Amino acid sequence: MTQEELFKKLISHCKEYGFIFPSSEIYDGLSAVYDYGQYGSELKNNIKKYWWDSMVLLNDNIVGIDAAIFMHPRTWEASGHVGAFNDPLIDNKDSKKRYRADVLIEEHIAKLEGKIDKEVEKAAKKFGEAFDKNQFITTNGRVLEIQKEIDTVRARFVAALEKPDLDAMRQIIVDCEIVCPISGTKNWTDVRQFNLMFDTKIGSVSDEANVIYLRPETAQGIFVNFLNVQKSGRMKVPFGIAQIGKAFRNEIVARQFIFRMREFEQMEMQFFVRPGSELDWFDKWKEKRLRWHLAMGINPEKYRFHKHDKLAHYANAAYDIEFQFPFGFKEVEGIHSRTDYDLGRHAQFSGKKITYFDPELNQSYVPYVIETSIGVDRMVLLALANGYAEEKVVKEDGTTDERVVLRIPPALAPVKLAVLPLVKKDGLDEKAQQIVKALRFEFNCQYDEKDSIGRRYRRQDAIGTPYCITVDHQTMQDDTVTIRNRDTMQQERIPIAGLQKYMGDKVSIRSMLEKI
Ligand code: GAP
Repeated sequence: MTQEELFKKLISHCKEYGFIFPSSEIYDGLSAVYDYGQYGSELKNNIKKYWWDSMVLLNDNIVGIDAAIFMHPRTWEASGHVGAFNDPLIDNKDSKKRYRADVLIEEHIAKLEGKIDKEVEKAAKKFGEAFDKNQFITTNGRVLEIQKEIDTVRARFVAALEKPDLDAMRQIIVDCEIVCPISGTKNWTDVRQFNLMFDTKIGSVSDEANVIYLRPETAQGIFVNFLNVQKSGRMKVPFGIAQIGKAFRNEIVARQFIFRMREFEQMEMQFFVRPGSELDWFDKWKEKRLRWHLAMGINPEKYRFHKHDKLAHYANAAYDIEFQFPFGFKEVEGIHSRTDYDLGRHAQFSGKKITYFDPELNQSYVPYVIETSIGVDRMVLLALANGYAEEKVVKEDGTTDERVVLRIPPALAPVKLAVLPLVKKDGLDEKAQQIVKALRFEFNCQYDEKDSIGRRYRRQDAIGTPYCITVDHQTMQDDTVTIRNRDTMQQERIPIAGLQKYMGDKVSIRSMLEKI
């Protein structure tokens, strides 16, 4: 199965099993907007708890807030979003489809890189063990030619972005002979800037003065509350403010399911530090955030750092944490050293003094900021895409069956355990219900008595339930149950009295937090 096919299957699985639905589907949906179903919202809540606890519970010097989505419009002038939160867009005149000009160019570069990979693959096959990849890519004529083309396009692209020069960007698209994937033609419009912020009106009088924006990032709610939190919490630099909340962007190209949405959720933490110490803190947070990801038990090879070549004008360091989604390595989280830009700009635009008096240095300054910013929805997609598998299963009678299993990290799984009476008689069903009643205070449990035990296992595998407990006739004699592991499908017998501890050890968020 190709990665593309796998991704399509995952999307329909998410709908069929109550994880994610297209928004307002009965009206044919709304582009790039999705609703979370009964299991999707549990998964999302668990991800948010894991992040929140890792920030707010585990750090004495980090507190959490919940700022409003609507903010004073001047906020977005100060932050630079009114002037510069733009994407360059281009239309194909034949298909009437709209694209991000920068994405078209990036995809063209990725295609060229793919050509090099193919040459390498071919040569590796041809030369076998004797193949030296480094030597090949530095000497092979065809590879050098493609690499030269990549370097030229990239240099022109970076120059066009930096200015920004929209005509130059269009010229790259024309020179590279990039075609519209729908019409197959090169009939392009000019490139125009498109502001990604949604606006709406506040109050009952509809005039210009009442235009406000739906926040495009949660971070500004933290910056404008810097003094409130610092003073009311008597916080001492270095300290952090964390927040989880919705953000809105009128994305031009909204594809890849919940990867790029118009309404999404962010988990952001701004860490305020002494000027001059920011790059040390940047390194610490960069490593710490990767540890947070790896503590979920996901294969480290699926992660990589990506260093930003072109820094935003306010940043002095920026890395992305990228994950290998079915459509390639893509950003899931950004770590940015934002200097004193945001606090400085808010001081300038509001006319308020936004500084911190450092008692140890006996001086006031505008703190520098390290930001960690991660999308909740991208984490949901990461957990689902990483966990989805189709497998052949050999049954007890020797015949084979197929199962779809979601290997979501157990602590994040929507349902933690299912309790299944082997048969619905002889008191087994009542016993199973008693177990659910005792465990549901701590774990999301399901009781299921319908169909064969095998079919019940399949249903739980499909929603990622890490443990299934079966109540059988032996249970009625010695108060033990079998517990089946989703991933290994192995079963063991344990006393009912030991279930709470067993589950706590296996599925608690604490078990991941301890590894960070
Ligand atoms: N405050 C910094 C900031 O907003 P960003 O790189 O634009 O930085 C941070 O966004 C994270 O938010 C991304 O790494 C991604 O996980 C998530 N994100 C951004 N745009 C998104 C979208 N349209 N849909 C889903 N998630 C998005």
